[in-house]
Amino acid sequence: MKLAEMNRKWWKEAIVYQIYPRSFQDSNGDGVGDLRGIIERLDYIQSLGVDVVWLNPCYRSPNDDNGYDISDYREIMSEFGNMADFEELLAGMHARGIKLVMDLVVNHSSDEHEWFKQSRLSRDNPYRDYYHWWPAEKGTPPTRWSYFDVEGNAWKYDEPTDAYYLHYFSEKQPDLNWENPELRKEIYDMMHFWFKKGIDGFRMDVITFISKHDGYPEFDVAYHGQNMIDMYAQGPRLHEYLQEMNKEVLSNYDIMTVAEGQGTHTHNVVELVDESRNELNMNYHFDHQSIGVGARYLLIDEDFQDLVKFKQVMSEWDGALSSEGWNTIYFGNHDFPRMVSRWASDAPEHRANASKMLTTYLLSMRGTPYYYMGDEIGMSNIKFDNIDDYNDLMTINWYNLTQKEGGDTHALLEAHKITGRDNARTPIQWDNTANAGFTTGKPWLKVNPNYTSVNVAEQQNRADSELNYFRKMVRLRKDNLTLVYGQYALLLPEHKQLYAYTRHLDDEVLLVLLNYSDTALSIDKVALGISDTTDTKEASAFILINNFSDFEMTNSTVVLRPYQAVIIKLK
Ligand code: GLC
Ligand code: CA
Repeated sequence: MKLAEMNRKWWKEAIVYQIYPRSFQDSNGDGVGDLRGIIERLDYIQSLGVDVVWLNPCYRSPNDDNGYDISDYREIMSEFGNMADFEELLAGMHARGIKLVMDLVVNHSSDEHEWFKQSRLSRDNPYRDYYHWWPAEKGTPPTRWSYFDVEGNAWKYDEPTDAYYLHYFSEKQPDLNWENPELRKEIYDMMHFWFKKGIDGFRMDVITFISKHDGYPEFDVAYHGQNMIDMYAQGPRLHEYLQEMNKEVLSNYDIMTVAEGQGTHTHNVVELVDESRNELNMNYHFDHQSIGVGARYLLIDEDFQDLVKFKQVMSEWDGALSSEGWNTIYFGNHDFPRMVSRWASDAPEHRANASKMLTTYLLSMRGTPYYYMGDEIGMSNIKFDNIDDYNDLMTINWYNLTQKEGGDTHALLEAHKITGRDNARTPIQWDNTANAGFTTGKPWLKVNPNYTSVNVAEQQNRADSELNYFRKMVRLRKDNLTLVYGQYALLLPEHKQLYAYTRHLDDEVLLVLLNYSDTALSIDKVALGISDTTDTKEASAFILINNFSDFEMTNSTVVLRPYQAVIIKLK
């Protein structure tokens, strides 16, 4: 398809930068990042060249799950500041041409939300049906798995009304009952409240889980444990609710939406994001994140970086959304480890180049890139040795569960050095002063000791830093619509170290070469579509970006250094 015929949208052309407020910048010395901290850093954010910021939840919350347990959807978390700070932040972003996307967490609320406090008081309370209850006289409720429960059980018995309530996440995160039209109306009103303030969209937390199966039937055992996620995402009224939300709220504004797509796969994603269905704009999936990783984030396969598998998954996703809907691309976020540790190498000799290589990938694929704060300076996993260093309720619960079962807690800790969520939540490393310039107090989560060498200040003005490479790659994508809309074609799918593809739009063809390994490679030129008469000098003239200072070709091969990334304009 020609560019002129494409359905262009600002959110397809945007680069999203994710900020986890707790870990970005503390402004008042209490060790917790806050909104004023982000305000202080607005010029930095602008200097990255990104278009959109997705801010993790900053609503009133008792912080059982760091803001994903909301007790008031229309107030700001006291630790983060107040509504005036929020409005100043929003205005500051808009003044710099940056849009702000908030987190919408409406599969569940906090148990400290007024609705839930009412709901649990009596069976005939007007808020009773805002949540899912199972009366105890019906016996033990059908099995439901919970991510964060101390026993992995999503039903919690509640004494006052002799009934169980449903919580897919922690017991302090009861699931909201979307079957109730009053609840839906409350949520839509709340969404209007934020859109009227001027926000530019929502990232929708586990939105695929909002519709529950009528009567809570027992699921097939094949869907027990963590496999239940796929059932949770298939609630019978999901699409009906999203269409209603679109009609009542979303369609009234020029905004973007993205589903956190737990349980979405290539066979069902189109139902969520096909434009003609009027539901959501985008979805992000977990299919690559689960390569080699099993229940409790244990490593089930030595090769959790299996490149052939990874290329296959990412190419299938590109294909699934190549004519309908629109894809997203990401490695890191607050739920996954640091990209360089998970997907490449954080060994001192490779970390910088490897992180630039991954940046090249994220910003040269089709689909809107979601880039996680700190990855632009190549931050890496902290790899806690001790469970006491963890803050994340997920790692802690799984550790306790494993201990209770007499399982291998050592293996769990070792795996979480690679997979654990807290690896991505350590404070941003601004400079080499105490606590990396994040706080003057005691940081809520330890700072990665490598901050003395890996930090923004050191990289700010160094031309070949990870940070300046990120800025350059952002520019390149912004200047080349081929990188946004161009057709994607995978080359050499079976190659175990090389990820190579072309992006093709109108008359332009770009070749992306990424060495995903720690050893040098030489690849046959013809297999890459480079004519064997092209020499290094000629090719160099067409190099759009390169994370090394040189690039080598022989008569018949292209040579890539460990973690080298190059984009060449072929036509
Ligand atoms: C999503 C969030 C995660 C949170 C969970 C429960 O997966 O990204 O951080 O713990 O939902 O809200
Ligand atoms: Ca603070």
